[in-house]
Amino acid sequence: MAVDDAMSGYYERSDEQGRLGTDQVELLRTRALLAAWLPSAPAEVLDVGGGAGVYALWLAGLGYTVDLVDAMPKHIAQALDASRRAASPLRTAQVGDARALVAADASVDVVLLLGPLYHLTESVDRRRALEEAWRVLRHGGVVVAAAIGRWASTADGLMLGYLGEEPFPAIVAADVATGVHRNPDAHPGWFTTAYFHTPHELAAEVAAAGFEVDGPVAVEGPWPVHANLLGGAAKQETALAAIRRLERDPSVLGGSPHLLVAGRKRI
Ligand SMILES: C[S@@+](CC[C@H](N)C(=O)[O-])C[C@H]1O[C@@H](n2cnc3c(N)ncnc32)[C@H](O)[C@@H]1O
Repeated sequence: MAVDDAMSGYYERSDEQGRLGTDQVELLRTRALLAAWLPSAPAEVLDVGGGAGVYALWLAGLGYTVDLVDAMPKHIAQALDASRRAASPLRTAQVGDARALVAADASVDVVLLLGPLYHLTESVDRRRALEEAWRVLRHGGVVVAAAIGRWASTADGLMLGYLGEEPFPAIVAADVATGVHRNPDAHPGWFTTAYFHTPHELAAEVAAAGFEVDGPVAVEGPWPVHANLLGGAAKQETALAAIRRLERDPSVLGGSPHLLVAGRKRI
């Protein structure tokens, strides 16, 4: 199955492996939410769109058996390289597509979709990815799905000054109106082809695939710049507690750059 050319070009040029430093709010909060939603180790995890393995290798280190699938051969090579050096390696890492997984029916306890849903611009493709997650999960299993928030590019435009550069204002207007984000000139520094969900929409898509939904939950909260100014451990915990307090508040959660939903496969 073909993935978007602009997306492949973006990941060929960018450093996905180095994107999440250890103090990043996105990383710390995603780990905390996964820890709350996942069954205890040992359990089998399929990380779909797992990139260079940042969550997959962390989970392997916690005692989970982890298989990683990603559309980008570059990311699979990076994940395999990191896995070879890890004390707890991945079981497998292979190129594949979220819409057509090779895993057998009812073969894993957890599916992570932390990437594919926000790169699939057509709802039919996002539906297919969620149906594949359903198919490969055992009964009682959990999918955790990530979205980029509908107003993420508006926030970047305002905070980083991009709204002063053409054609960013038109890109943002289209994002807000349709959810479909494009970077037609492959402007370096701006994100690539994506779908930006409203919180309700993410939860509705996961529910429509048959899952019992928990969320949406805001990953970073609505003030990502301030949240990223974390200091030492005590300051960091204070900041994370402030984000946790608002994580499900419907009046602000849509302002978060990333949103997560967990879905349980009930019989
Ligand atoms: C921003 S990265 C996220 C990586 C990692 N899951 C994380 O959260 O840090 C998005 C990843 O999704 C992958 N991806 C996008 N569409 C996909 C698809 N249809 N099937 C599998 N992987 C896909 C990309 O190749 C990329 O590695």
